[in-house]
Amino acid sequence: MALKLRLLSFALGAEVCGIDVSRNLSEHEFGDIYRAFLEHGILLLRNQGITREQHIEFSRRFGELDRHDTLPRDRHPDHPEILLVTNEPKPSGAPSDSKYTGRQWHSDLSFTLVPSMGSLLRCVIAPPVGGDTMFANMYMAYDALSAGMQKLIADLHGIHVSARKIVDLSPERAAEHKRLNPPIAQPVVRVHPETGRKALYIGEKVKCFAGMTQEESRPLIEYLCRHASRPEFVYRHQWQANDILIWDNRCVMHIALADFDETQLRHLERTTVLGTPSGYVYQGPLH
Ligand code: SIN
Repeated sequence: MALKLRLLSFALGAEVCGIDVSRNLSEHEFGDIYRAFLEHGILLLRNQGITREQHIEFSRRFGELDRHDTLPRDRHPDHPEILLVTNEPKPSGAPSDSKYTGRQWHSDLSFTLVPSMGSLLRCVIAPPVGGDTMFANMYMAYDALSAGMQKLIADLHGIHVSARKIVDLSPERAAEHKRLNPPIAQPVVRVHPETGRKALYIGEKVKCFAGMTQEESRPLIEYLCRHASRPEFVYRHQWQANDILIWDNRCVMHIALADFDETQLRHLERTTVLGTPSGYVYQGPLH
């Protein structure tokens, strides 16, 4: 039976209706889902009350999963393939390490040598209002640039740094984070390995361009992020418990919004599918 899709926005995204991922989907059914994933950039699956094991098993259909070694404090203690994105305090009462995950425009694992091809984020608890996530179509963003700008950025590499607001930033913690996450240079324009289309690969984790100072780079980084997140390129998702969103990190960037009452619980769990190797460790100065 053909997949029933409902478009989510002008820019990107489709809801797959009437699917239950806890069922063992046939190769044929999964093939249809995968083709829709490549075509729409984001898929929404609603009402998926699944276990962590089922989340992992379904995610493995997309490829090998990251074990989140670069973010050891955020992974689930019994399931390294699951990254917790939660503001639920720890049993000790200390704030959650992942309270501020995703609060900048980014593509998952862009700050590693094997950036993610896709992520599957499941909502366990949504706040009563807000806590939305926005997604930008980076094919559209690239295509809308002038020929002159496309030429200017064609050979640039952005230096991606895994820097985020950390709740209890001790000097030891900062040193550990830096050791696990050296700066990584990634091309600003990436060719999607499956569709062959060019997509802008930028975000707010980019500190500068290779061989340029931060002062020189900042105006162009800011311009490209602003350009890519124009409303016509964006889908904004309002979470419901048991939603799964699957997005293609090779042509979509996203941001978790702080548009909610932080005393209310927001708990999501993500698996991260590894992509193809890209980029190199940047040894140049970050000044
Ligand atoms: C993420 O960046 O993967 C988390 C997004 C979110 O919490 O909405």
